[in-house]
Amino acid sequence: MSQIMQRLATRRRVAGGLTAVATTALAQGRPLVDRVAAYDRVTVSRFQSTPVDTVPAGPFTLDPLPYDYAALEPHIDAMTMEIHHGKHHQAYVDNLNKAVAEYPELQEMAAEDLIRNLDAVPEDVRTAVRNNGGGHVNHTMFWELMTPGGSSEPTGALADAIAAEFGDVAAMKEAVETAGLGQFGSGWAWLIVDVDGSLVVTKTPNQDNPMMEGEARIILGVDVWEHAYYLNYQNRRKDYLVAWWNTVNWDIANERYEQALAG
Ligand SMILES: [Fe+2]
Repeated sequence: MSQIMQRLATRRRVAGGLTAVATTALAQGRPLVDRVAAYDRVTVSRFQSTPVDTVPAGPFTLDPLPYDYAALEPHIDAMTMEIHHGKHHQAYVDNLNKAVAEYPELQEMAAEDLIRNLDAVPEDVRTAVRNNGGGHVNHTMFWELMTPGGSSEPTGALADAIAAEFGDVAAMKEAVETAGLGQFGSGWAWLIVDVDGSLVVTKTPNQDNPMMEGEARIILGVDVWEHAYYLNYQNRRKDYLVAWWNTVNWDIANERYEQALAG
């Protein structure tokens, strides 16, 4: 059998297995999160002939969310939050721990320092640290930046800087949304203090973070990976970005700006 034919045959077997899992889960009335877990188990069992590596328990850990999974509804649904935090962020933490497992000196570093100093990370784990260290740092910030109800607007020095750089808050929000929509594939849109002290909007692919490229300080960032919104918004990334502002904790953004000014 040709390689292409083998791949097609494998896909058909997996698709059949997934359909059976989903049908069983639905028939038993099990929640979607269980079906996702079943999907993971099927995927792993089909494609891994050796046991899954043991995941080190540290040094990096996943903190619990500071609010319930349902707390950001209707803007971000509970199922998305549960999978995003409990599955995706947990996977970044696990894979970062695996990446540094053979390097005690990396285990001593904060995740932010790892991604700021990727050139110092051994080459054989550099990409893993970039992707998973970035994923851990980005998501940790993301959860902290949101809050039930959200505090309504930026204030103080951040409000002044937004007015000076963008004209008003609405224009800043539009710039972030445009960056998020313009990010091809997965990535993040950011409001940062750049190396020259100016407040700018930028975007990065994958789990990259502006801190990887220099002395940028992050004020806020929004996850535009499909895993952040697809259950509720499907392909409507713009609707998700507009709704996301309702969750932003501007008190935290204000604090981050004050810290950036303080250096
Ligand atoms: Fe994410």
